[in-house]
Amino acid sequence: MRLSWLAAALGVLASPAVAIELDLNNVESIKEAASTIAFGLVRYYTGNYTGDTPGNLPDPYFWWEAGAMFGELVDYWALTGDDSYNAITQQAMIHQGTENGDFMPPNQTRTLGNDDQGFWGMAAMAAAENNFPNPPPDQPQWLALAQSLFNQWVSRWEEQTCGGGLRWQIFTFNNGYNYKNSISNGCFFNIAARLARYTGNQTYAEWATRVWDWEEEIGLITPEYVVRDGVGVDPITGECNNVTNVDPNQWTYNAGIFLHGAAVMYNLTNGSAEWRARVDGLLATTTATFFTAHEDPSVGSIVMFEQLCEPLGFCNIDQRSFKGYLTRWLAGTATVAPHTEPLIRPLLEANARAAARACSGNVPAPEFKGHPGTACGFRWTMAAGFDGMVGVGEQMNALAAVMYTLAARPGAPEPLTADTGGTSRGNYAAQGRTMDRGIAYADISLRDRVAAGFLTSAIVLGVVAGSAFVMI
Ligand SMILES: *[C@@H]1O[C@H](CO)[C@@H](O)[C@H](O)[C@H]1NC(C)=O
Ligand SMILES: *[C@@H]1O[C@H](CO)[C@@H](O)[C@H](O)[C@H]1NC(C)=O
Ligand SMILES: *[C@@H]1O[C@H](CO)[C@@H](O)[C@H](O)[C@H]1NC(C)=O
Ligand SMILES: *[C@@H]1O[C@H](CO)[C@@H](O)[C@H](O)[C@H]1NC(C)=O
Ligand SMILES: *[C@@H]1O[C@H](CO)[C@@H](O)[C@H](O)[C@H]1NC(C)=O
Ligand SMILES: *[C@@H]1O[C@H](CO)[C@@H](O)[C@H](O)[C@H]1NC(C)=O
Repeated sequence: MRLSWLAAALGVLASPAVAIELDLNNVESIKEAASTIAFGLVRYYTGNYTGDTPGNLPDPYFWWEAGAMFGELVDYWALTGDDSYNAITQQAMIHQGTENGDFMPPNQTRTLGNDDQGFWGMAAMAAAENNFPNPPPDQPQWLALAQSLFNQWVSRWEEQTCGGGLRWQIFTFNNGYNYKNSISNGCFFNIAARLARYTGNQTYAEWATRVWDWEEEIGLITPEYVVRDGVGVDPITGECNNVTNVDPNQWTYNAGIFLHGAAVMYNLTNGSAEWRARVDGLLATTTATFFTAHEDPSVGSIVMFEQLCEPLGFCNIDQRSFKGYLTRWLAGTATVAPHTEPLIRPLLEANARAAARACSGNVPAPEFKGHPGTACGFRWTMAAGFDGMVGVGEQMNALAAVMYTLAARPGAPEPLTADTGGTSRGNYAAQGRTMDRGIAYADISLRDRVAAGFLTSAIVLGVVAGSAFVMI
């Protein structure tokens, strides 16, 4: 936990005043608040400094979280028009994506999962959908980068174990290879659905449907629209015991990534009853599971929380960024499935008010380098506001909470397609580096080993291994 002990000791954690003003009836006020929070976020990033690597966040943040951050900064620009961070975003995405055109940089081999790639891929997809400034013509383009991921995932789809699905990890030597999880398959589903919508090519829609069907068949999406975390693959038999070897835990981002992808499919099918039932079911489960009462009801009746780890305070660095993604995907859902907007709007607005109140931390550098008194905490439920936890995740979540209230309004950006003005050039054949070519192994640091084992959930493998042990 990055609780600021120094600040706590000095008694300067929570200032009673609301440090970030937010009037949700005033677009300029929302943009101003978003700008303040975005500044605090970007001050964590050092990749554009001489000698540093574009696209990497400093320790303890992993590569995937940087991809998530740049995806959010693409949306920040699209929603607010503020292009202050376009240069670093473009530089980072080009540097990380285009070495081999596949978001599979050799430096990240030791921890590279399908989900890690996916967060960068979704940043590229958002860039294509919003006409974010295109890379130079001799570099792989945003759409082609997303297509490259799609093609990689098709090649990694494994029918012979668990009847389908992607494994979490790409490389056999990484911890987590014997685990098929919802976030990896959710990245595939989400990007395939959006590629189908952008290009009109039905092959993408067929794959999105295949991923969804597999998640249901294996029981990772239940008939009640609970999205469970993943299922272990027996390394000897290759079988998946989806009763004893399942991690049933629910995380905000798993629900969100399928909700948004389902909404895109709903839109693509001109509002089919099948996809509508899925959208509405996931939204109902999401609202019931990941929202809880705020201590001060004037903020809103319910606000988002990471129910598994937030109440007891054991969310790890990765998990402390998940709420921001669910927020992003709720806004995306309201955009392409407008019948959900009246349900989603009050959730987004309550989150925005709660998050702005939580951005009142007086935390000194180096832990927070944004405007004094505007550090964002993790919990949004507290009447007092700031809870003392700061970091990239907290800052990203709060930015999402505030800025996505600008989405799904009249005049808000709608995701473009090739037919409605999207300019990104695609490449159906994009594939990138295959697994057996030119892998440079980076040193295995403790950080890498921790990452490989614990990206999604500190308890994932504990549950899976624990169940296996009971069976033996
Ligand atoms: C890095 O980018 C930030 C945000 O745009 C900017 O404020 C800063 O000056 C840049 N640093 C360097 C060394 O280019
Ligand atoms: C890989 O690491 C080297 C050495 O730190 C760095 O120069 C290079 O830019 C990195 N490549 C990527 C894609 O991050
Ligand atoms: C396990 O998978 C099988 C085969 O896909 C499926 O029929 C069954 O319903 C699943 N069980 C659970 C508990 O999800
Ligand atoms: C959706 O509507 C469009 C335009 O009316 C039509 O071209 C397309 O075939 C429809 N798609 C489906 C799946 O019904
Ligand atoms: C599809 O999304 C667009 C916004 O991009 C929206 O105007 C349209 O109503 C949506 N279609 C359906 C069937 O909801
Ligand atoms: C549609 O996408 C698939 C998968 O990438 C590709 O093989 C096919 O050529 C595409 N079809 C057209 C008409 O472009």
